[in-house]
Amino acid sequence: MTNSKDLLKKSIKGIAEYVPGKSTEDIVAGYGLRPEDIVKLGSNENPLGPSTRAVEAVRTMADSISVYPSVDAGELRRALAAYVGYPEDMVVMGAGMDGVVDTLMRLFVQPGTSAIIPTPTFSYFEIALRAAGGTPVFVKRQDDYSVPIKTIISSIEDSTRLIYLCSPNNPSGNTIPEDDVRALVKSTNAIVFLDEAYVEFASKSLVGLVSEYDNLVVGRTMSKAMGLAGLRIGYAVVPNWIFREYMKATTPFAISRIAVAAGLAALDDVDYREKTIDNVDVGRKFLTEHLSGYCRVYQSEGNFILIDVSPKKSKDVVEMLLKKGIIVRDCTSFRDAGDGLVRITVGTPDQNKLVVDALQGTLGS
Ligand SMILES: Cc1ncc(COP(=O)(O)O)c(C=O)c1O
Repeated sequence: MTNSKDLLKKSIKGIAEYVPGKSTEDIVAGYGLRPEDIVKLGSNENPLGPSTRAVEAVRTMADSISVYPSVDAGELRRALAAYVGYPEDMVVMGAGMDGVVDTLMRLFVQPGTSAIIPTPTFSYFEIALRAAGGTPVFVKRQDDYSVPIKTIISSIEDSTRLIYLCSPNNPSGNTIPEDDVRALVKSTNAIVFLDEAYVEFASKSLVGLVSEYDNLVVGRTMSKAMGLAGLRIGYAVVPNWIFREYMKATTPFAISRIAVAAGLAALDDVDYREKTIDNVDVGRKFLTEHLSGYCRVYQSEGNFILIDVSPKKSKDVVEMLLKKGIIVRDCTSFRDAGDGLVRITVGTPDQNKLVVDALQGTLGS
């Protein structure tokens, strides 16, 4: 008889576990600080907290959590479809965009197939790909973190099923030009997955392109500008032929009743969204202006900025900030990011001031 451990899929062994930003609990336990003194700028969450209307919707829904939600979160899906300007049968949902990615892997990936991933970038696409048995093909972004689109196109093989593009890219914050996306999508039958998790903070979305091609999917989330990271609501705009297959393979009831109610309320709360986006605009400028004299600051269209603290090591700089109760993200765990990059979520004006003071002290010395 085989050992149970031998039954594990080989592909799982190659996975490096997802590294999240540090939580408030980690820091309270590790540094003896009080939760109220911690400034959490390591996970690109919304520093304004949730929309009060979403919180109210959660409370109202609490009495009915013994009942299943609708199987496909239809009410929220229709509202999101209107938000992105597409028909309902081109919008799919998942437990976070991570959940959407999981279902796409089920649809397109099996052992022997591959996906192209420009690095450094958000790591879950690689994890989900490997878990499904696919092989990642990494193409390093250029020095300014732009995607070398010709290299990507020349890396496409018969085995390529998916190509991951992240715009604005996590952790670098830059976006990909429309012409590059069009050139790539036209050059292949493989599915191009354009991750627009941070697009509400950017100058432009490319979601409109989905209607023009059979092989472009645009992923979105309610975790960032909509302030619902804790509820796990992701969605994607897909060509209708993918919608039909997706609905067969996705987890039923993936979006909880609470999430649907809060999602609808948050989507409706335009004031909250505008405040969120204004806060990021102002904070991004403030951080960039006040840190540029101390380190390289990359131009960002996300709700975060990336700084290069070399020759200092990012882990040392992050540690210095943690001691002061400020959580930012050491990017060492991002493939091909090196050991000098730190990602900082744009906070409230007070939080941004704290982070600037602490970094000026650390980087100036
Ligand atoms: C680029 C990118 N895509 C997707 C996600 C995952 O989003 P969700 O919370 O919807 O799973 C994140 C989360 O940080 C992200 O940075």
